[in-house]
This record gives sequence, C-alpha cells and structure tokens, in this order.
Amino acid sequence: MINKLFIYHKYQRYLSYILEKLIYLYDKDTGLHIKRIKLYSKLIAKELNCSKEFISEIELVSSLHDIGKIFISKKILNKEGKLTEIEFKKMKKHSLYGKYILTYLKFGDIAKNIAEFHHEHFNGKGYPHGLKGEEIPIEARIVSLVDIYDALRQKRCYKDALPHEQTLEILKNLSGDQLDIKVVDSFLKNQYKFNKIFEKFTIHKKSSSILSEISKKHYTRVDDEVI
Ligand SMILES: [Fe+2]
Repeated sequence: MINKLFIYHKYQRYLSYILEKLIYLYDKDTGLHIKRIKLYSKLIAKELNCSKEFISEIELVSSLHDIGKIFISKKILNKEGKLTEIEFKKMKKHSLYGKYILTYLKFGDIAKNIAEFHHEHFNGKGYPHGLKGEEIPIEARIVSLVDIYDALRQKRCYKDALPHEQTLEILKNLSGDQLDIKVVDSFLKNQYKFNKIFEKFTIHKKSSSILSEISKKHYTRVDDEVI
C-alpha cells in the first residue's frame, strides 16, 4: 500500500526545492538569506527540544517565509529610505499572500503558519492579526527571531550591516517584547554558530543573478505592475 504521508513529504520537499531554486535564480543574495534562515531555524528548534519531525519540517519550509513578496512591487521592496504609510500597508500583505500561496500549493500547517505569523510580535503589536505570546505558533516565533538576526547582519539599500555583537544586544533587548524569551535564550546559547553560518553563507561582493541580468535587459519594470 502506498504511504500517503511519505508521498506528501516527498512532494513538499520537492516543491520547496524548486521554489528555493527560483528565488536563488531571481536574486542570489536572497537565495543565501533563505539558506541561512533554514540553518538558524534548525538550530533553535533543536535547542528547544522540538520533535525530530518538527525540526526536519522547519528546516525545510522556513525558507518560504517571505514567498508572499512575489506579489509585492519591486519599487516597494527595493525602495531606499523609509516606506510611506501606504507602501508599508501594501508590504504587510506579504504574510497573508504567503499563506494563500502555500495553501494553494497544499503545504502543511508549519509552512503556512510561518508565512502568516512571522511578523507577529510576542507583545501583540505585530501583524497581520496582532496575536500575543503563545497564541503565535512556535514555528513563527522562531522564524521571527532568525529573520531579524539575518536582516540586521545584512547591508540593505537603506541601511548598513551590523556586526554580530551589536545584533546580539539588539535581540537581547527585544526579548519578552517583540520576541519570545525562550526563543531568545535558545539563540543566545547558539549565538556563535549563528555568526559562523552568516560568515559561511554570505557573499561580500555585489553579484547579480542570471535572471536579474535578463530582466534588466528585456523585462524592466514589468514586475512593478503586479499590484
Ligand atoms: Fe516577512
């Protein structure tokens, strides 16, 4: 008899792989960002003594947390400087778009929860629903921290990269406020490994992907019509 669960896991693994490759082709820096997110998430889940199945699933699907951004204009995603109120409102929709995409592609609850809730704050001041504390699924609380760590370490068009030590202090200050205390504690126990992962999977020289070169030549600004 065919094991449906086995087929489902195979399907999810295969689809995640394809989506990641597409993201990598689209933008090499984002590709490495999602690689790091997977490794960080696995570390935290292990430290929290989560089940083997959970650890393997979060490692597999945490990379898809921002998949909803494919429906956000590049003008907004790449804007230098602060977003306007309207732009930020549009940007915030990526979490719900992500949930819809992963539901459509028949991903499981862990993937959908990460996409939908990774911008919720432990203190209830996040989005899209303003959930508080343990109302937020643990997988989303984990990805929330690792996403912030990685974002702070990276240079973006609107900010400089921060060194590991400074990032550490910022995350400590967010404990119990924006971030779950036990997730921050797990991060602190593994912080050297976070730094190692970042250093190992980071391109320090500016590079552009094959697709972005093609896009620049032939399809400039087509993606801006999405919303
Ligand atoms: Fe996000």
